[in-house]
Order: sequence, then C-alpha cells, then structure tokens
Amino acid sequence: MLKTQNLGYWYQDKSQPLFQDLNLTFDEGQSYAILGHSGTGKTTFLSLIAGLDKPKSGDIWLGDRSLKQIGLTNYRRHDVSIVFQAYNLFTYMSPLNNLLTAMAITGAEHAGDKFFARRTLNSLGIGEDLVERNVQHLSGGQQQRVAIARAMACDAPLVVADEPTGNLDEDNTQEVIDQFQQLAHQQHKCVIIVTHEPDVAARCDHQFRLENKQFTQLA
Ligand SMILES: Nc1ncnc2c1ncn2[C@@H]1O[C@H](COP(=O)(O)OP(=O)(O)O)[C@@H](O)[C@H]1O
Ligand SMILES: [Mg+2]
Repeated sequence: MLKTQNLGYWYQDKSQPLFQDLNLTFDEGQSYAILGHSGTGKTTFLSLIAGLDKPKSGDIWLGDRSLKQIGLTNYRRHDVSIVFQAYNLFTYMSPLNNLLTAMAITGAEHAGDKFFARRTLNSLGIGEDLVERNVQHLSGGQQQRVAIARAMACDAPLVVADEPTGNLDEDNTQEVIDQFQQLAHQQHKCVIIVTHEPDVAARCDHQFRLENKQFTQLA
C-alpha cells in the first residue's frame, strides 16, 4: 500500500544523510514497529510518510500515486492519521469536538455521529467525565488516547504514531497496542509506530530497526 522508492533525507549536509536509498513496503491490515536509537531519524522518517515534510531524494507512493501527485495537504487530510506528540490535538476543544471536527474535515463515514465519537473515546478509556473537557486539561497519556481515538474515528487508510506509549503506564500501553492492532486487523489500516520499547515492537506484526542509515527488517 505504502512504498518508499530510493527515499533519502538530510537536514543541512547532503553528505551526511540520515538515511538514503530506502526501498520499503508497508501493507494494509498490518502493523509495523520502527526501533532505533535516539537521533537516528525515526521521527524524520515518520514525518515524511505522514506528509509533514518532503523527501530530499526519492519518492513515496500510496498505491499507484506518489505523494507529490496527491499533494501533501490533500494526503494529510484524507490518507493519513497522525499521532504525534508535537502535532496533536485541536487545543481549546474537548475530546468529543476533536473527533467530530476531524471526522468532518476528512469527510469520514461517521461524520456528525456524536454517539459513535463518544463510544470510540469511551473504548480508549476517555470516559463521559472527560469527553467534554478542554483537552488542555487532560494528562499527556489521556491526550495521546484522544489522538488514537481520532485515528480510529477517521477513515484514513494509514496511521502513523511517534512513541505513542511514551508516557503511558504498563496497563495503558497494553490497551493502546491492542487498539493499534485492532486498527490494523479489523479496520484493515496500515499502522506504523515508532517506539524505543522492544516489548511494544514485539507486539506489532513486523519490526524494523533504523541503524547506520538503513532499515533492517527484524521480522
Ligand atoms: N529541524 C531539524 N534541523 C536540523 N536537524 C534536525 C532537525 N530535526 C532533527 N534533526 C536532527 O536529525 C537527527 C534525527 O532526528 P529525529 O528524526 O528526531 O531522530 P529520532 O526520532 O530517531 O530520535 C538528530 O540528530 C536531530 O538532532
Ligand atoms: Mg523521535
């Protein structure tokens, strides 16, 4: 479903790329973990496949169209759900309105369905006491779960998450991974997660490690 073709990226110095000539394939209905030490370029890689930044070399393809052809704004709106710490929720809005707004903007099947939005939030432990509170008054872990609920409520075929369990305790971590697996296996999405936690990676269907500017497939 998603393919990188000779993908490369560097910040300042072209002779020091973070990675180059990456040819990777990610299929629908599958979950992928990307492991790697801090500073190896995991977040950068995710921001490219999330359409937040442009490759320095190579291309990214969603099916038979490149992201260039789709257009990054269009791609971010319809094709990808982003669960990033720094690209998170609509602030000053409640969890419920975050979902309803995202569903409306992306034209999701359940757009306007408050019951569905509440049920999705409830299923991630955002109870009725929280659904109408300003998200800024929620903890980091709760905000993370609202972002995941938003990915569930929208129809984008690709979900990318950067350290989604980074500030969750063990129980919530298991719960969130269960939800990601459900997104892949029941909603047939392609789920790509960056994590430094081997236990979290082990629960995904496939694992990659970013090391020495290359991705090695571990499983
Ligand atoms: N906007 C930027 N400008 C310059 N260098 C950056 C920028 N963002 C990240 N870097 C550098 O690129 C490298 C990879 O960063 P990042 O993708 O965040 O790695 P990771 O997520 O694996 O920790 C790091 O050395 C980081 O300092
Ligand atoms: Mg990172």
